[in-house]
Amino acid sequence: MIAVGSDHAGYGLKQAVMAHLKERGEEFKDYGTYSEASCDYPDFAEAVAQAIIKGEADKGILICGTGIGISIAANRHKEIRAALCGDCFSAEATRQHNDANILAMGARVVADGLALKIVDTFLDTPFSNGANHVRRIAKLS
Ligand code: RB5
Repeated sequence: MIAVGSDHAGYGLKQAVMAHLKERGEEFKDYGTYSEASCDYPDFAEAVAQAIIKGEADKGILICGTGIGISIAANRHKEIRAALCGDCFSAEATRQHNDANILAMGARVVADGLALKIVDTFLDTPFSNGANHVRRIAKLS
């Protein structure tokens, strides 16, 4: 299951991402926000992070204006490896090398078309499982 969350600045892109996840046949849950009314990105980062920590979701997608605030908030948990991506190369590399469990994006930074390609790359790329990467990830927590 994929946990999805955004603040008001990411709301529009989140709607596009969820329509895309539906088209892909993915199971997902929207953890808010549910309108463009001003709100605080840490609240939605926390909801998605907790969904992963509790095992309700195996991956998450978080969106705010830049993707920065919401990724900083999610990464305050040792179980979370949230990667802010604005290109497909980074999305692929962070799955292969960091086993990132949350994709963060900035709705004011990436256009919807690119964002959906980044989502596809993130979801379709497995962790490499290389001993060097496993060792480095262990050092994160
Ligand atoms: C909201 O205006 C904006 O600050 C927020 O979406 C995000 O970009 C913070 O990092």
